Amino acid sequence: MTGFMLRADGHMAARKYLVVGGAGFIGTQVASRLVARGDAVIVPSRKLEAGKHITMLPTARLEVCDVAKPGVLEALMAGCDAVINLVGVLQSPPGAPFGTAFAHAHVELPRRIVAAAQASGLKRVLHVSALGAERDAPSQYLRSKAYGEAVYTDAYPAVDYTIFRPSVVFGPKDNFLNMFARLVDLFPVLPLAGARARFQPVYVRDVAAAIVQAIDMPDTVGKAYPLCGPTVYALRDLVSYVATLRRRTRVIIELGPALSYLQALALEMAPGEPLMSRDNLRSMEVDNITLAKPLPFGMTPTALESVAPGYLAR
Ligand SMILES: NC(=O)c1ccc[n+]([C@@H]2O[C@H](COP(=O)([O-])OP(=O)(O)OC[C@H]3O[C@@H](n4cnc5c(N)ncnc54)[C@H](OP(=O)(O)O)[C@@H]3O)[C@@H](O)[C@H]2O)c1
Repeated sequence: MTGFMLRADGHMAARKYLVVGGAGFIGTQVASRLVARGDAVIVPSRKLEAGKHITMLPTARLEVCDVAKPGVLEALMAGCDAVINLVGVLQSPPGAPFGTAFAHAHVELPRRIVAAAQASGLKRVLHVSALGAERDAPSQYLRSKAYGEAVYTDAYPAVDYTIFRPSVVFGPKDNFLNMFARLVDLFPVLPLAGARARFQPVYVRDVAAAIVQAIDMPDTVGKAYPLCGPTVYALRDLVSYVATLRRRTRVIIELGPALSYLQALALEMAPGEPLMSRDNLRSMEVDNITLAKPLPFGMTPTALESVAPGYLAR
């Protein structure tokens, strides 16, 4: 369905979506896709600077606000046809079963979204979780993502939810491959933690396409879908591929568990946003791949090799 739907009175009404986390890497693609098909989009962001690019999209509205404040989500949801939640964080102070930042972004915020949706009479909610989200997963990140999913499954059928679980996502401005590109540019030797961890990277536009397509598919309600690419890679091979694209001859040294832990600890303690944490390392203890179809709805996943050279090649 495009940006218009037939109302009971026979008039065509524009459709409007709230995209929480819509100023981020995946959210921007979701918002752009919705705007491209003629929908109105509201994107809340905590900082004008983080969301400024959204104001360039003709039918998107940026709202600088904190969605955790009482009443904010309810006000944003007024007149919306669905809400899409893409809020996520990669780091948190530690805690059991997960730290406060994970609890806030991955569990409490979904609770607020579900409560606000019910108060606003909005039934359709799409949520982005993560591949490997399990209550007993090795990392706090993945555990918190599983508790976040439960917010929707517990609210079903009062809420028409659809959940997506991407593997690591690539595309221009990704954090993952771009981070390795910076590292291979800087260092001739790369001691690599979790070198054998396996991933099935998925293209950001495929992720956005699946989410947007699902909005109007009633048979996706109450379901969760993995979102993956066509190929499984060990982390070592991905880093080696990035080095090839950067035209750098690099020595990759696989770190064993003890040295991987020490590297993650050192990076976690370094000032600024950490490149890696012990929790990120624990996430890599489980393969980030699917045995199911990589993408739903008959979609063909885009190959990493057809996109990555466009933004990583030197
Ligand atoms: N990228 C990947 O490889 C990947 C893989 C698997 C799953 N995911 C999941 O996909 C979703 C989107 O990921 P992404 O890569 O697009 O992340 P991103 O670029 O970091 O964007 C995340 C968004 O979350 C918002 N946010 C973070 N903490 C918040 C808080 N406390 N309150 C309100 N908003 C908050 C940020 O909003 P502001 O504009 O206010 O900063 C930001 O726009 C996340 O749930 C992530 O866990 C991503």
